Amino acid sequence: MLYTKRLIIRPVEMSDYDDICEYGLDEEIGLFLLHWPKTNEDIKTFINDCIIAMSSDKITWYEYVMQLKDSLKVIGNISIDIKGTVGEIGWVSNKDYWNKGYMSEAVEAVIEHAFCDLDIHRIIATCSDKNIASYKVMEKCNMIWGDTDYDYKELRHGEEIIYNKLHYYIDRKSWFYLD
Ligand SMILES: CC(C)(COP(=O)(O)OP(=O)(O)OC[C@H]1O[C@@H](n2cnc3c(N)ncnc32)[C@H](O)[C@@H]1OP(=O)(O)O)[C@@H](O)C(=O)NCCC(=O)NCCS
Repeated sequence: MLYTKRLIIRPVEMSDYDDICEYGLDEEIGLFLLHWPKTNEDIKTFINDCIIAMSSDKITWYEYVMQLKDSLKVIGNISIDIKGTVGEIGWVSNKDYWNKGYMSEAVEAVIEHAFCDLDIHRIIATCSDKNIASYKVMEKCNMIWGDTDYDYKELRHGEEIIYNKLHYYIDRKSWFYLD
């Protein structure tokens, strides 16, 4: 369990289902995500898969939720996919809470947790160059732009999409020396 000024960050639980449905079914929120929006049934399966993944002996996928301290409402998810000592981080939140600094607050805490508790040496994140809010979160959390894949092709809900994919990263050794 991680605590920030306004948030509690903890592994997802089945009891988060209703709150996650508030942002999991929304087309606008899923615009830049490959696997969102989801159906109600997908969200149940997704939470179940997260719980199974996080109960393994060697966890390679963490799925956290961010919860408002005052109301305990769950307003977003943050994932870390681990390959070796590299963790790829991703995020999504309820649009009623956008642009209030919540995701940057949560991601800063998750980066610290990943570097201090999970033996991760580098954190990477990617997004479309059109997803300004997402790369702003990366930059607010001291991540550094590394590269852009132009005209990157991927499948989204079975259909090919083409976009410019930004790659950001932060290394534990440089994070350690931040103010
Ligand atoms: C990306 C996302 C999680 C950000 O959450 P959030 O809580 O709004 O993030 P924060 O408030 O911490 O930071 C967002 C920053 O982007 C800025 N921003 C957002 N839209 C912007 C725009 N169109 N132009 C300029 N800045 C913009 C905000 O002003 C804020 O910066 P500031 O604090 O310096 O003012 C949220 O927008 C979201 O869930 N998007 C849909 C899912 C998604 O795209 N996930 C990422 C896939 S790679």
